Amino acid sequence: MKIAIMGAMPEEIAPILQKIGSYKTIDYAGNRYYEATYKNSELVIAYSKIGKVFSTLTATTMIEHFGAEILLFSGVAGAISPELKVSDLIVATKLAQHDLDITAFGHPYGYVPEGSVFVAADKELLELSKRVASSMKKSIKEGVIATGDQFVANEERKNWIGSIFGADALEMEGASVAVVCNALNVPFFILRSISDAADMDASFSFDEFLLTSANESAEFVMKMVDELVNKNI
Ligand code: ADE
Repeated sequence: MKIAIMGAMPEEIAPILQKIGSYKTIDYAGNRYYEATYKNSELVIAYSKIGKVFSTLTATTMIEHFGAEILLFSGVAGAISPELKVSDLIVATKLAQHDLDITAFGHPYGYVPEGSVFVAADKELLELSKRVASSMKKSIKEGVIATGDQFVANEERKNWIGSIFGADALEMEGASVAVVCNALNVPFFILRSISDAADMDASFSFDEFLLTSANESAEFVMKMVDELVNKNI
């Protein structure tokens, strides 16, 4: 079983590379990939760069070129739900693209013909994350994540995304990774730790909490990896 671990920014995968310790680097398609053997399982790790296009390229490459059979995403997000505070963890049950808009043709936001507004995450990985959370005595929220090529720092936009998609958090890569994994039949798991509230202070909060929130998420994802490799699947 080859597991892909993906982030969008260097800070999101640095704690993972640090935990793994030794790896080889492969430059491919304009990006750097890290391959490692970890507890007898194969890992491929990369950060994509920010946004839906780069994350689509990286997820596709990890699966089609490197042969990943499961994909775990670790990173940070802006909170929509008032329940979510900085450093809280949210795992996506389903994801949508909030900036996909052909409503002029009568379609709902986030929809294009032959697509769907939401892509659901893998149920078994969600179940596993609940067991991992309880073993770590951590509470994680399950919810809807909305993705778009925008850093949202605006209360009005954030509330709109919350009301149209029922979203609890927003970020810039999850839904595109979900589309790729769904199309290629690869189970996926998108985890985020909150770095900001997507409001007028978002960019300051993001800068302040990126490292600590990225670490929170990475630590949890590595616990998921430990469980997956122990099961030897
Ligand atoms: N990732 C973390 N915070 C974000 C925000 N406010 N908008 C988009 N992506 C984010």
